[in-house]
Amino acid sequence: METAESVDALRKIVKRWRDSGDRIALVPTMGNLHDGHIKLVEIARSLASRVVTSIFVNPAQFGEGEDYNQYSRPLEEDSRKLCDKRVDLLFVPPVSEVYPEGCHTYVDVHGLSNILCGEFRPTHFRGVSTVVCKLFNMVQPDMAIFGEKDFQQLLLIRTMVTNLNIPVEIVGAPTVREADGLAMSSRNMYLSAEERKQAAKLYRSLCDAEVSIKRENHDFRQIEAQQWNRLQASGFKPDYFSIRRKNDLGVAEKGDRELVILAAAWLGRARLIDNIQFFVS
Ligand code: PAF
Repeated sequence: METAESVDALRKIVKRWRDSGDRIALVPTMGNLHDGHIKLVEIARSLASRVVTSIFVNPAQFGEGEDYNQYSRPLEEDSRKLCDKRVDLLFVPPVSEVYPEGCHTYVDVHGLSNILCGEFRPTHFRGVSTVVCKLFNMVQPDMAIFGEKDFQQLLLIRTMVTNLNIPVEIVGAPTVREADGLAMSSRNMYLSAEERKQAAKLYRSLCDAEVSIKRENHDFRQIEAQQWNRLQASGFKPDYFSIRRKNDLGVAEKGDRELVILAAAWLGRARLIDNIQFFVS
């Protein structure tokens, strides 16, 4: 596995591959890799002849008082995991390479960046779309792989790519879960042993809401309130529990068939997010 820290070094390697006809997949990450990230790398490996993984803890997507400084950065361990998965190139730019002096241009996907998680983290998605756009311009991959756990992020990136005519195919990968259903996330490490036992209740609430809807309960607002209260009673501090249309994240109403239920809730120091998608026949 090669490693590049600068855009120049990265471009030289990628150009070599492109000149020999390779198809290139990018897996953007913030490091602290778990099995969910490894799944993204495996998908990339199966779709392209060259795999680039970036590790960059992006300051622009952390709000004031969030965990930018505490975010775990086990670079050696991450690097070993990627090497084992036959990643061709690890791109680990310093902040000064991604945001040099005088960098004041942002990408913002209006309408998607300010709802759901965006309501609680007002600058987060602007930071995500900006860094992903920059990574696409730096690497110029044919495709990029993102997890469905971050459903809103995935839709935002798909929308950005379409709106800005960026020639990168976006591939979504199913959420990888622990045995009890908890979605894998770098932030699960903030959970105490006791909180970890409770954490899977978030996924259970989503599943129960899906069952209610499929049993012909189409009072979506009542289901949302019920699950929100249940999470609160189990010690979570929910930000939202929301039944939405899958295609545009608009508020779902009776008659909508392709749905996604999304939830975000604090449990101790960890802000957990999760979602499930399904079709109502
Ligand atoms: O999902 C993440 O880890 C990040 O938001 C991403 C896409 C790597 C951008 O920093």
